[in-house]
Amino acid sequence: MRKLLLATALPLALVATVLAAGAELSADAMRDAEDTLRSLDSNVSLKHPKALAEAEELRGFFRQVEGHYAARGDAARGVELARASQQHASAVAGAVRAGDFDAAQDALDQLTRSCKACHEVYKNKSPLAQKTSQLEFGRWMRVIDQRSVSVQRHIAAQHAAAAQADARVLEDLYARMERYFVHEYPAADAQQVSHAGRVQAASIPALLAAQDYVGAARAARSIAQACNDCHDPHKPFR
Ligand code: HEC
Ligand code: HEC
Repeated sequence: MRKLLLATALPLALVATVLAAGAELSADAMRDAEDTLRSLDSNVSLKHPKALAEAEELRGFFRQVEGHYAARGDAARGVELARASQQHASAVAGAVRAGDFDAAQDALDQLTRSCKACHEVYKNKSPLAQKTSQLEFGRWMRVIDQRSVSVQRHIAAQHAAAAQADARVLEDLYARMERYFVHEYPAADAQQVSHAGRVQAASIPALLAAQDYVGAARAARSIAQACNDCHDPHKPFR
C-alpha cells in the first residue's frame, strides 16, 4: 500500500522508467495492488467514502502497468488488459462518487475479474491463474448477500427491471459457484445447492415478465433460505 502510494505520487515519466527497466512487473507493486483492492472491497461494502481514493489509486497503478506493456512493444494484449482494469477502477470511482454502491460492487467484481484475465495471459505459473482466490470467493458472497436481499425487496415493490437485474447477477454468481464446487473444490452438496440457486435465479426474469410476482418472490425466497444448506457444512473454508 505504502509503496503503491509512493509510486503513484512520482512524476509519470519517472514511474514509466522504473517500470520499463525490468523485464517483469514488480511483484511487490502487485502485492500492494492486491492490498488496495482488499481494502477497497471492504470500504465499498461499508459504503465508506475512502473507497474513492483507493479506486483512483488502482486506476493510476494500472495506467503505469499499461505503460509497462506499451514499452515492451510486443504485448498489445497486456496494454488492452491494463486499460480494461483502468476502466473498471474508474467505474468503481464514478459509482462511489455518485453514491451508488450497488454499481460500485458490480464494477469491483469486473475489476477483480480483470486481474485474473491478465494473470491467465502473463502470469501462468501463479496459482492465481488457475484458481479462484479466497478474496474473489468472498467477493462473490458479499454480492450474493446484497442481491439476495435486494431482489426480494424489488419484487415486493414490483420494480421488475431492478429485480431482473438482481436476478441476473445472482444467476451469474451461482453459476460460477457451481463451477467452483465442481472443478476447484469438489463438493457434491455445495454443487447441488449452487445449481438449485442458479435455476431459481434464472427463472425470476421470465416470471416477472409474466407479472407473476408471487412466483418470483417464491423463487427469490428459496434462494435466501438455502444459504445455510451450504454454509453449515462448508463455511468457513479451512
Ligand atoms: C495487465 C496485467 C495485469 C493485471 C491487470 C493485474 N496483474 Fe497482477 N500480476 C501481473 C503479472 C505479470 C504478475 C507477475 C509479476 C512477477 O511475478 O514479477 C502479477 C502478479 C501478481 C501478484 C503476485 C505477486 C507475488 O507475490 O508474486 C498478485 C498478488 C497480483 N498480481 C495481484 C493483482 C490484482 C489484485 C490485480 C487486480 C486489481 C492484478 N494483479 C492485475 C499482471 C497483471
Ligand atoms: C454453495 C455454497 C454457498 C451458498 C449457496 C452460499 N454461500 Fe455464502 N459462503 C460460502 C462459503 C464456503 C463461505 C466462506 C468463504 C471463506 O471462508 O472464505 C461463505 C461466506 C459467506 C459470507 C462471508 C463473506 C466474506 O468473506 O465477507 C457471506 C456474507 C455469505 N456467505 C452470504 C451468503 C448468502 C446471503 C447466501 C444465500 C443467499 C449464501 N452466502 C449462499 C458458501 C455458500
